[in-house]
Amino acid sequence: MAEILLGVTGGVAAYKAVDVLRILQRRGHEVTVIMTSGARRFVGAATFAALSGRPVGTQLFGAEGQPGYDHLDLARRADLLLVAPASANTIARMAAGQGDGLLAAVYLAFDGPVLVAPAMNTRMYVHPATRDNLELLRRRGVEIVPPEWGILADGEVGEGRLAAPDAIVDAVCRRIEVGAGRAGRRVLVTAGGTREPVDAVRYLGNRSSGRMGWAIAEAARRRGAEVTVVAANVDLPRHPAIIYVDAPTAAELHRAAGEAFGSCDLLIMAAAVADYRPAAPVEGKLDKSQSAALELALERTDDVLAELSARRNPGQVLVGFAAEHGPQGLEHAREKLERKGLDLLVFNDIGADGVGFGSPDNEITILRAGAAQRLPRMSKAACAERILDAAGELLT
Ligand code: CTP
Repeated sequence: MAEILLGVTGGVAAYKAVDVLRILQRRGHEVTVIMTSGARRFVGAATFAALSGRPVGTQLFGAEGQPGYDHLDLARRADLLLVAPASANTIARMAAGQGDGLLAAVYLAFDGPVLVAPAMNTRMYVHPATRDNLELLRRRGVEIVPPEWGILADGEVGEGRLAAPDAIVDAVCRRIEVGAGRAGRRVLVTAGGTREPVDAVRYLGNRSSGRMGWAIAEAARRRGAEVTVVAANVDLPRHPAIIYVDAPTAAELHRAAGEAFGSCDLLIMAAAVADYRPAAPVEGKLDKSQSAALELALERTDDVLAELSARRNPGQVLVGFAAEHGPQGLEHAREKLERKGLDLLVFNDIGADGVGFGSPDNEITILRAGAAQRLPRMSKAACAERILDAAGELLT
């Protein structure tokens, strides 16, 4: 079902990664194992190679003149990266963004969901350095599968024992099997920003890059859904397993989304659709010799989301976005959730620094009737996972 990268790091608990591997396989997943040099002091690579039926990645560089394991290729093909057990050292390298080893380099090159199951001596686990590193990873969207309390390898009692392999695999499966992306689910995403022609060469547009919608589409595909993206002027790489329909204007987006809507289970409307368009776009070029000032008459576009919401089938889940500015933002977003008849509304404050349009990060609040889940700043890929988690809970 899914392609999982299992990173095994140095620690007595490395042998438990064998169980993690076997349970993942039993649940139908393909696993490629990457071991750090520390891990190989505890368990031989041959064990993981035999059980996974694949070569084990151990080195970023091969012997002189030889290529190592291709970290970029590994990252490209994987649906999820799990590090179990994760040592304090590997957690620190991930937090620092050091790519000095195969596992660390794969982590940097991978933009899908990452889960980390720490295992170490309790004093190392509670050390502020480790705490801070884990917190940093969590803020970036990495899911931490917390260690258990118990007797540790050195006889001490405390927090730091690797979570039970079943619990680790459950956490993995929640990210790839259930919810919004369950196999066979149809997910429709709109992405980008519409452009409304003023004349043959000019348009009224907005600054949406399409990154958020792209991240949602890719996350839903990783979870096994059939994904269609209605794209408004998005210049980003396309995934071969996703269907893309280009719709540059609000009217074209309305038509394309309207056609795909009937058969989708989940609609995520991440596109920035123009609210107004020039009422009479000029054929050819505007003649500026006619007057010093130009007055453009604009007319309203259809509210695509409100229209689709009004004709939804039972069971369909609808998610809208609201880019708002200023202190009234959250209130406006709430009002929009209700007015458009949505199940969820993803609110982002476009006034915040370093997030939003064109940026790789976002800071979102997921609203539903009577509840708001405010999330810290994280990558758009991590936001996408959280949005799908929330939407998945509503799908029957
Ligand atoms: N949207 C839409 N059709 C439009 C405008 C917006 O489907 N013509 C969708 C957007 O894709 C987004 C949500 O509606 O998911 C909210 O968009 P926004 O423009 O913020 O909402 P408006 O209803 O236009 O609210 P406002 O009055 O604040 O502009």
